[in-house]
Amino acid sequence: MDINKKKVPAHVAIIMDGNGRWAKERGLERVYGHANGVASVRKAIKASLDMGVKVLTLYAFSQENWNRPAAEVEALMLLMVSNMKQELPSFIEQGVRFRYIGNRAALSDEVREEFDYCERQTAHCERLTLVIAVSYSAREELAMAAQKIARRAVEGEIRVEDIDVDMMEENLYAGDLPAVDLMIRTSGEIRISNFLLWQVAYAEFYFTDLYWPDFDEKEYEKAVEYYGRRERRFGKTSEQIKLENSINQE
Ligand code: IPE
Ligand code: IPE
Ligand code: MG
Repeated sequence: MDINKKKVPAHVAIIMDGNGRWAKERGLERVYGHANGVASVRKAIKASLDMGVKVLTLYAFSQENWNRPAAEVEALMLLMVSNMKQELPSFIEQGVRFRYIGNRAALSDEVREEFDYCERQTAHCERLTLVIAVSYSAREELAMAAQKIARRAVEGEIRVEDIDVDMMEENLYAGDLPAVDLMIRTSGEIRISNFLLWQVAYAEFYFTDLYWPDFDEKEYEKAVEYYGRRERRFGKTSEQIKLENSINQE
């Protein structure tokens, strides 16, 4: 597929949904769906590297997912730790920097230590930043940012009038990363499920009925092509954008 390199999103975020239904349709337990979803994660990383996406954020486990049956939660955590261990050498080789977002304190020691280790080991990698959201809640992320800022105000380090969009961003889990350009959700659900509420303020959205284990490079390219066809106006008129583009092309 011919991807217009100029129109590749810098930051893609994916809600990887539909593992359970994928397994159920095959008469399998839900965990097989999660296990088969791992291959799609690998494909998404490879396609991001191939297309020149700079940041890929994957929603692996929401704060609300803690309410699932304990056996499923346990299986998901095991899967994450074992795959992180397995993939680390290839991350380093391919220049993939790993970062974690979410409520670190809610993770087991084993999971937290694995994530910390991978972050340290890949800190020098620069081709792609892979952000994994685990025990993540966008509303909590915003509440935590408010707490951090309020503390500084109470301690007299900042004035209330200093609180602005930039300061909010600096206090998010990964506030140094660019905003999300393209948000993808698989499995036919058209909802955000408490993911990156702040960061998607001007994102383009792509929804597909495919279950996550069926999401491959081709489907990812389709989403990026769709993104490339959108006119991102950021509040301006279409005429203004066309004029700006023609000036930029000169
Ligand atoms: C997404 O697939 C993976 C996680 C939420 C961990 P689901 O497990 O939500 O699959 P469905 O939506 O039940 O099919
Ligand atoms: C969202 O999927 C979280 C992840 C993909 C990790 P869910 O399947 O948990 O979302 P809801 O609860 O159905 O909206
Ligand atoms: Mg789901």
